[in-house]
Amino acid sequence: MRKPFVAGNWKMNTDIHSGVELARSIAAGSSDIACHSVDVAVIPPFVYIPAVVQALSSTCVAVGAQDVYCEQKGAFTGEISPPMLKDVGCHYALCGHSERRHVIGEKDGLINKKVAAAVSGGLLPIFCVGELLEERQASQTEKVVSRQIKKGLANLAAEKVSAVTVAYEPVWAIGTGLTATPQQAQEVHSFIRDLLAKMYDRRLADDIRILYGGSVKPDNAAELMAQNDIDGLLVGGASLKADDFLAIIRAAV
Ligand code: PGA
Repeated sequence: MRKPFVAGNWKMNTDIHSGVELARSIAAGSSDIACHSVDVAVIPPFVYIPAVVQALSSTCVAVGAQDVYCEQKGAFTGEISPPMLKDVGCHYALCGHSERRHVIGEKDGLINKKVAAAVSGGLLPIFCVGELLEERQASQTEKVVSRQIKKGLANLAAEKVSAVTVAYEPVWAIGTGLTATPQQAQEVHSFIRDLLAKMYDRRLADDIRILYGGSVKPDNAAELMAQNDIDGLLVGGASLKADDFLAIIRAAV
């Protein structure tokens, strides 16, 4: 049984005060949800991570980072390494989020190094994939997602891949209010699971969690979660409102 996992990506939003308040509200509002029934993480901007970790200490809400660098230390001005993130209490790190791919320009090769470095550094990567609108319209979804998965996980042994959570986020559904239908999402999730079974083995593929992301809201979370291969949700905009994020967590339990 795959344990549901709901993660809230705050992107470049909040400030120190509102970020800590949001974390506290999420902790208070989820205190009656059994920790063993769902994994929950919030993913604030780097600079607020220590304050959010502190606000969430003694709760089962974990903290993640929105990115991580692919080296453990050294002359890489402006970058943040896996050990630094562990040091301040992070458990997860997004790798290859669509805004890193399409706004910042990260390529599959760099994302592959980040996933590998995150696992080596003791973090749990949330490895994001997803096609652009024109790629979907040109029936290229499986081709694009397959390339992203194969290149993003290249040279990673099975035991490392088992630390990875995959997030399927169709780029056309992120921040647009357009959600993939549960059937569209399920089709790609099941394609990804079969691909992982071919690359590794069926057991690993059956154990790995595949999250859906892209305009997840309280009113569509339950039907997405009802799909066989959707194991959790990566939430952007709706994770900035405690009530909405809490409703999404409840829909996933
Ligand atoms: P959204 O963002 O929920 O605002 O569409 C999702 C994401 O980018 O992870």
